[in-house]
Amino acid sequence: MHSVTVCGIGYVGLVTSACLSRAGHDVVAYDTDVTKISQLQHGRLPIYEPNLRELVEAQCASGRLRFTASAAEAFEACDVVFIAVGTPTTRLGDADLTYVRQAARDIAQRAVGEVVVVNKSTVPVETVDLVARLLEREGTGRARFAVASNPEFLREGSAVEDFLHPDRIVIGTDDERAAALLRDLYAEIDAPVLVVDPHTAEMVKYAANAFLAAKISFVNEIASLCDAVGADVEGVLAGMALDHRIGEQYMRPGLGFGGSCLPKDVSALAHAAREHAIEPTLMDAVLDVNRRQVPRLIRKIRSVAGEIEGTRTGVLGLAFKAGTDDVRESPSVALIEELLACGSSVSVHDPAAMPNARRTLGDRVEYAADPYDALRGAHVAIVATEWPEYRALDWRRAATLMAGTAVFDPRAALDSASLAGTNLIYIGSAHDAPGVSV
Ligand code: UDX
Repeated sequence: MHSVTVCGIGYVGLVTSACLSRAGHDVVAYDTDVTKISQLQHGRLPIYEPNLRELVEAQCASGRLRFTASAAEAFEACDVVFIAVGTPTTRLGDADLTYVRQAARDIAQRAVGEVVVVNKSTVPVETVDLVARLLEREGTGRARFAVASNPEFLREGSAVEDFLHPDRIVIGTDDERAAALLRDLYAEIDAPVLVVDPHTAEMVKYAANAFLAAKISFVNEIASLCDAVGADVEGVLAGMALDHRIGEQYMRPGLGFGGSCLPKDVSALAHAAREHAIEPTLMDAVLDVNRRQVPRLIRKIRSVAGEIEGTRTGVLGLAFKAGTDDVRESPSVALIEELLACGSSVSVHDPAAMPNARRTLGDRVEYAADPYDALRGAHVAIVATEWPEYRALDWRRAATLMAGTAVFDPRAALDSASLAGTNLIYIGSAHDAPGVSV
């Protein structure tokens, strides 16, 4: 059993805290946001994530997980600290390390004894050196520090499952004792462990996310081409996926990739390449293709359903993907902004993300109590996030509520057969449907 402190209680920090506690460790979860900590102490989670509430409750009840906003309490008695603070993108496209620096200073000033400081935030290569320098310079707590990088690969919506059953655990450190401690920390988790130097570990995370983003942009470009030549993109992708060298993961076309990681990490990698005088041709293209997906759908709406100005659009789904309440870099939100700019009124629904979306979209859209309400009077319906509840909709009922007939399904969230027997016209990423009435 180790005494673990997790610094920064966002998605990664909270899941790491709860799961390491479940693995039998004594975990203190620390954040400078007093309101967030107070909510957590009262059992209220700042994020929606399947199975997380139950896990946090159980671990708090076991006494192995507690939350604090006090740096003194957080760092005085731990043998390992995870830095899991946010690393937002700056205007220039690189990662802002303000919170990482602050965390390193807090740790240095408070920690006592031997401590392994582990970067879990996604950070540019060499950040582990920055943390080591700060610990050395600021250290007043008379601790001996070793540093490591331990990137986290969990996905929102399946974060607990991903943490407990990862494809791999990557440990980046030059310190043998730190490597041994981290191996021991993860002993309960059954996954291959890769021990490499810190820069390699930092690079693994960026390279993996950039590769996933590249796959998505690739299939989106293929989808555009399929549209143009009259090929069925779903058939094309099915044919590709049967090649076991290609597979079917991250091969779903749609509105492009969003969320707090993929767009940010590809930008940061491109920025890092430029800093090393390497032209990031592929990364730039990945981002460029991604930016084209919302305009592509807008063009499709125009060509299929006519002018957008003065119409009403019902948008189902606001989260950047199903299973989360997160709207950061959500393609759905970008789509809504574009629809508003084109002069459509928009009513929206999402099973989880409406409160977060309201912070961005304010009262410029109408928030519907249920999906049917969002479609009432709509000339055009768009399923922008692939929530399973939308697949289960009664489209006969929706048809009686809508003013128009076009249902756009860019992420292939629906079974097109469910619209059979209605006057609705299904337009997936593989379909053109001229003559739709609005
Ligand atoms: C991602 C990485 O998958 C994870 O390893 C890392 O730790 C954090 O970043 P996450 O942001 O939760 O996880 O989202 P992910 O499930 O990877 O999806 C990212 C975006 O790509 C979403 O907008 C999703 O809708 C989109 N996507 C995904 C596609 O458009 N097509 C696909 O085939 C897969």
